[in-house]
Amino acid sequence: MARIVLALPPAREAEYAEQAARHGHEVVARASSAAEAAVVATLRPDALVVAAEPRYLSARVLAACDDAGVRVVAIAAGDPERRLAASLGLFETTDAAAGWSAVELALAGSPRPTAARARTAAGTVITVWGPAGAPGRTSLAIAVAGELAAVGRSVVLADVDSHGASIAPALGMLDEAPGFAAACRLAGSGALTHEELDRIAQGYSSPLGGFRVLTGIGRPSRWPELSGERVAAVIAQCRTWVDFTVLDIGSSLENDEEISSDLFAPRRNAAAVTAVRDADRIVAVGAADPVGLSRFLRAYAELEEAASTRDITVVMNRVRASAIGMNPHGQVTQTLARFGGIDAPVLVPHEQGAFDGAVLSGRTLADSAPRSPARLAIKALVENRILSRG
Ligand SMILES: Nc1ncnc2c1ncn2[C@@H]1O[C@H](COP(=O)(O)OP(=O)(O)OP(=O)(O)O)[C@@H](O)[C@H]1O
Ligand SMILES: [Mg+2]
Repeated sequence: MARIVLALPPAREAEYAEQAARHGHEVVARASSAAEAAVVATLRPDALVVAAEPRYLSARVLAACDDAGVRVVAIAAGDPERRLAASLGLFETTDAAAGWSAVELALAGSPRPTAARARTAAGTVITVWGPAGAPGRTSLAIAVAGELAAVGRSVVLADVDSHGASIAPALGMLDEAPGFAAACRLAGSGALTHEELDRIAQGYSSPLGGFRVLTGIGRPSRWPELSGERVAAVIAQCRTWVDFTVLDIGSSLENDEEISSDLFAPRRNAAAVTAVRDADRIVAVGAADPVGLSRFLRAYAELEEAASTRDITVVMNRVRASAIGMNPHGQVTQTLARFGGIDAPVLVPHEQGAFDGAVLSGRTLADSAPRSPARLAIKALVENRILSRG
């Protein structure tokens, strides 16, 4: 016998409820929308039997079921519904035409997920890089994580900066027990599991959608804990844990091997080099002033060399006329095109008040200044450059 929640159109609901009872199951709740389905998943039924229609099935529903260890049986009446399920990472659906018997088979066949998260598709790793001079890597990484969570995706934001970790203070979190260092330690002994990640990650809650945070090393002297191998293992584990892993890294991609003759000595930039190498997508941030632009253009070539992906979105941050002259958008765009061959950069305006307010309150920009032009620019970046590419 299973405890079941039904989230189905009224026309099918009565029949399925009757069949469920006939097969000895208990229907503990009926949800009439995706929002309700996400809420009742927290009752921890054994299974959610849900129509694969946008009205009933969403990323938020799946995330809630994954979190509560609830098996999802999605019913598809045709190709559009199968496509919707697949787009959410749910590749197995049962055929509506087969009626309850197909649900019964699914209930008997697929085991209840044991891990907190039973993802069927690998998640996406986004590394936020930028040259020296504090162009806004951390600010962008936090804002991107917030926007992805706001559309219902499961997200972990990890502070991989081995020179100056700053996500914990920026989000008002304790960093006495840095989550990312703990994850590296466990990865080093082959003991990093989704359950451990659930345990060591802190949560950022928001009415728009929260996310997990692996805070960074508060004391920079701990950098040897972030070896390349361990960082790679943590990234690999996060990839199967959540939809999006957002990595904030230090500025330098310089290979310390070239400086040190000891090939086996730990390398301080290994964490950043690994995060760039293993990323599926890179957000490259530069400061939109003459010094920031020139630093960005010089370091960009190094980034392209270190990255395996060509999916690089260039963001020019703190765009303002006072630092670059009239028509700052045109100036920045032309400079990047002429000297770096870079087209269509995303421009984020300089907005001292919005960013100061966010740091002061330990909130994301989406929570603290939802209508600020900088937030809207980053929201558009996430929608048009990250989510639109699947
Ligand atoms: N668009 C913006 N307008 C105004 N201030 C901004 C903007 N973006 C970032 N800032 C501010 O700039 C400062 C540096 O930003 P941030 O810490 O994100 O940079 P970083 O590249 O991560 O630097 P670090 O080298 O310390 O890691 C912060 O005080 C932040 O609030
Ligand atoms: Mg930073």
